[in-house]
Amino acid sequence: MNNSVDFPCDVEIDDAENTPSNKSGNRPFNEVLSADLKRRDMMKGTLAAGATTFFASAFLSRDTEAFQEAPYGQNITFTPVSLADAAAGDGKMPLISPDYEYQVLIPWGEPIEPSGPAYVERGNSADDQTRQIGIGHDGMALFPLKRDMGEQINGTMINKRGLLVINHEYGSNSHVLGKEMPESLEDVRMSQHAHGVSVVRIEEKDGTWQTSESLFARRIHVNTPVEFSGPVEGSDLIATPAGNIPLGTANNCGNGTTPWGTYLTCEENFNGYFGANNDESTWAPTVEQERYGFADDGFGYGWHQFDRRFDLSDADYINEENRFGWMVEIDPYDPTSRPVKRTAMGRFKHEGSAWREAEDGRIAFYMGDDQRFDYVYKYLSARPWRDMIAEGVSPLDEGTLYVARFEEGGFGEWLPLTPDNPSITSYSTLEEILVYARVAADEAGATPMDRPEWTATAPDGTIYLTLTNNSNRETADAANPMAPNADGHIIRMKDDDVNGDTFQWEIFLIAADTHGTEGSFSDPDGIAVDNRGRVFIQTDGSQQDGLQDQMLVANAFTGEVRRLFMGVNGDEITGFAHTPDRKTVFVNMQHPGNGDPAETNFPAETDGTTIPRDCTIVIRRKDGRQVGI
Ligand code: FEO
Ligand code: CA
Ligand code: CA
Ligand code: CA
Repeated sequence: MNNSVDFPCDVEIDDAENTPSNKSGNRPFNEVLSADLKRRDMMKGTLAAGATTFFASAFLSRDTEAFQEAPYGQNITFTPVSLADAAAGDGKMPLISPDYEYQVLIPWGEPIEPSGPAYVERGNSADDQTRQIGIGHDGMALFPLKRDMGEQINGTMINKRGLLVINHEYGSNSHVLGKEMPESLEDVRMSQHAHGVSVVRIEEKDGTWQTSESLFARRIHVNTPVEFSGPVEGSDLIATPAGNIPLGTANNCGNGTTPWGTYLTCEENFNGYFGANNDESTWAPTVEQERYGFADDGFGYGWHQFDRRFDLSDADYINEENRFGWMVEIDPYDPTSRPVKRTAMGRFKHEGSAWREAEDGRIAFYMGDDQRFDYVYKYLSARPWRDMIAEGVSPLDEGTLYVARFEEGGFGEWLPLTPDNPSITSYSTLEEILVYARVAADEAGATPMDRPEWTATAPDGTIYLTLTNNSNRETADAANPMAPNADGHIIRMKDDDVNGDTFQWEIFLIAADTHGTEGSFSDPDGIAVDNRGRVFIQTDGSQQDGLQDQMLVANAFTGEVRRLFMGVNGDEITGFAHTPDRKTVFVNMQHPGNGDPAETNFPAETDGTTIPRDCTIVIRRKDGRQVGI
């Protein structure tokens, strides 16, 4: 069984992302299916013909000297994991291309430093978990160590050590606690501490990557003090009657980085951790709570039964839920710094946040809101980011949030979510618009999409966007041409001028088109584009053709897809980090076997009893060349 109980990011169950909360009725560009299929055929023809679209000029204008080895986006020569080999396995252990090798790093429960509390299956305390790797490995980034940190950075050493910052999206109670519901505050703390982010120093020694002692190693979890910044800082909308200080980050899914050397973690399905103990007497969802998917029982974590902060019906903790759903900036180089919730970037179920610098130096971040029929957003800094940093102002605090409208013919418009947008009638202040960005975006007229997941920036400024699937779609439109869309697709888009409000877009791949071929995949989720324009695609959902979730590499011009790595039963492959030379790539295996030892025991050898553990997979070419070739 593949992903039978994956939760909450799976496609198999009626989970948070799959239950649309968007009742705005936005369908601005519905077209009949036949017209969209025509467009789809046109796009396929375009790819087959070798990039005759607007992308061609950008690609061809690149520094050809740097790409003599092979044309941009096309140098993919590795022998893939074949469909036959992949389908023949029992799904208990991963498979990798014969040209590559892998190593397991930092499984759930490993101490963040070797001196920390050792992992003991079902034997660790909630306190231990604050010094151990969390569960639900997802987005991540590797930050180089610096000379002023007492590190050698000469020669190849820069490629053999670094600070790995990694998200721990979620772990089901059955996986983390060994029971369906918490029975005490200690159980809830265990679950809360398994969520969040880890910062670990890693290094390669004798060919093996491992953690080491470091002043920079730390855990950030659901009870870590955090700060708010930007337009919503100090707002009544995030103040509670209890007056408790802001604590924690949760459901940290995709990630981003900034060019000023910080990490961005995305709070996705935060609604699922809240519930209501006194639902019948005192709690009914507001319009906004309903739009964000809050419910009596949440996703069944039961935190609200022992921790008042997560009880929506507790009058002392009104607005606690508005403190989640943000982009959170973490400075890995300052272990005393608090994570900062950057409110100018809006509150929704954040997935990735790829950035691109405009010609005038302003910086744009492209972000998905992962739910059926939700939207794609862009945040654009108010001024050139280098000037803002020099002034001591965060480029993430002053800027404009936009939401995307995809139009026929490959054009699109960025709609501003600002008080002066006459379409937004429910709110008159910027802080309301940002806290309730989904409602503002409904009113602005955004295009409902098929679950926007990660974004990635190609070297030429093209943004790749995964739409993972949407089996509820009944009417196709230009940007979402499958109805229903069981397997997802990938769009690429480019701002005409990042300072302006229009963009161009096209469909890069439709997953269903790959089925039955060697490049078969479904449910694209994680995505990355390397410095040579190669597109790495990671999947989360039931794969066809006997496959497990996987990472593939796509040719940006021809759309050819090759399978580099395939995971185990019930898992998801997500997250992408690399050394500066890109000869070592880190990806994550999330929820192997969904925690069930009968499905897999990975990373342990198959024994039928050892609890499988989320972990990072270190990938290298056997011949030492760049990963992806
Ligand atoms: Fe956590 Fe949308 O994936
Ligand atoms: Ca997931
Ligand atoms: Ca997903
Ligand atoms: Ca995801």
